[in-house]
Amino acid sequence: MKSLFYKILPAISLLLILALTMALKPKKTINLNNISLIPRPVSVINTGNIFSFTYSTGIFYAAKDNSLKKPALFLAHLLRPSTGYPFPILPDEKAPHGNSIFLTLSENTSLGDEGYELTVTRKRIILSANKPAGVFRGIQTLRQLLPARIEERFLQQGPWNIPTTKIVDYPSYAYRGAMLDVARHFFGVKTVEKYIDLMALYKLNILHLHLSDDQGWRIEIKSWPDLTKIGGSTEVGGGKGGYFTQEQFKELVRYAADRYITIVPEIDMPGHIHAALASYAKLNCDNKRKKLFTGKDVGFSTLCTHKTITYQFINDVVGEIAAISPGPWFHIGGDESHATPKKDYLPFIEKLQGIVAAHHKKVIGWDEIAQTPLKKGTMVQYWANTKNVRTAVKKGAKVILSPAGRCYLDMKYDTATKLGLHWAGYVNVKKAYNWSPDTLVPGITKKDIAGIESPLWTETVTNLQELEYMVFPRLIGHAEIGWTPQDLRNWSDYRQRLGKQAARLDDLGVNFYRSKMIPWQE
Ligand code: ACM
Repeated sequence: MKSLFYKILPAISLLLILALTMALKPKKTINLNNISLIPRPVSVINTGNIFSFTYSTGIFYAAKDNSLKKPALFLAHLLRPSTGYPFPILPDEKAPHGNSIFLTLSENTSLGDEGYELTVTRKRIILSANKPAGVFRGIQTLRQLLPARIEERFLQQGPWNIPTTKIVDYPSYAYRGAMLDVARHFFGVKTVEKYIDLMALYKLNILHLHLSDDQGWRIEIKSWPDLTKIGGSTEVGGGKGGYFTQEQFKELVRYAADRYITIVPEIDMPGHIHAALASYAKLNCDNKRKKLFTGKDVGFSTLCTHKTITYQFINDVVGEIAAISPGPWFHIGGDESHATPKKDYLPFIEKLQGIVAAHHKKVIGWDEIAQTPLKKGTMVQYWANTKNVRTAVKKGAKVILSPAGRCYLDMKYDTATKLGLHWAGYVNVKKAYNWSPDTLVPGITKKDIAGIESPLWTETVTNLQELEYMVFPRLIGHAEIGWTPQDLRNWSDYRQRLGKQAARLDDLGVNFYRSKMIPWQE
């Protein structure tokens, strides 16, 4: 007996030492509550361990799911520069060694087109969705689980650990957009691409480009070249303006599509059209070309709705833009047409919907168009008038919510804000966030709402830094409103999570407004 004890003593000692070291070593966990996810996911379970990215971590997707190559590449491009790891992309028949990431397409229809399931265990990350778009949205969640310095584009210090978890997530609204006015001031391809990148991080899926207004025409129309040559030559304040060639526009469409974002082009008619009237004499009722306009007034211009050439012009413009816009929508504007007699406005908008339909697109228009007969599938964008919204819904249209007093990103935060306007009031970060789409407009409910969109009008915004200052952080709150169910949202929780986005926004080089309402953690 005694001799047996001495024989196994070394083994017993070893076990004791092992048990002791395990007990003394701090348990490796990351508290998920300390991590900021925006939009807040529908369901998050903390499973109390960690996954470590290593030099041998690969990104795998089933060869049959070739459509996942694009999201896989996006993920690799995100992770490689800051970690310095190679992140090879491989079909999943190749057995992975080490901790790896698996992207898969499932048939879990409850996830919809953009939902996903993200399961992180000690050894694996499995991201599955019905559609590649869902995998892409899930990648943004994975991205936010990582330390903010993952966003840097040069080598950073590890470790690269994330908490183990199971997340099931999908959006409340299908349409989650931002609008950029490139007409009052022009913003080029690089600026718009950065905007698209930031939209993608917060799971937005629509970029509405306001391509024409009184001060500028911003997209090449080959059959009407003076629209850009003359109409694109200036902007508010008299600067040199600019425009997208059709090739550049196609590049933007591709860049957005790689991030599962659809571009909605807008040509605002029959008002907000002075730049076109300054480009071609024949578009004017008196056949006289107007002088270019570089001020900030609205509501003074109109197409000549009785002229045949007007409809030829519209058909050419809509045709050329529709041909390079793969998304389903064409935005016709229709707002503030104070210079168009009402008896002309109504048939004009009706006719315009027919032209857009002939080019196989569905119409979106600002809420004024609700007064006209609406074609099936036309969507109405609320900005000013709730009566128009109820009228639209009665006519069977879905609505997009852009209430100016909550969603307009050009409204000043408060009286101290130098940029922006305040005709719809001051929109601080709390006011932008703290409302619910389903109860905003009496008489309409969730089923009537396609989603929400945040417009940035640019009368006072002239460059990327100013754009970022007005957009961020308010757009982040709107992104959460569009995605996260109302019962999971509240201001006191949101402001804490938003505060933790500061380091990420810094690492992305975003000039965001440091509202005193938010406990920023930089
Ligand atoms: C608008 O703000 N005129 C739509």
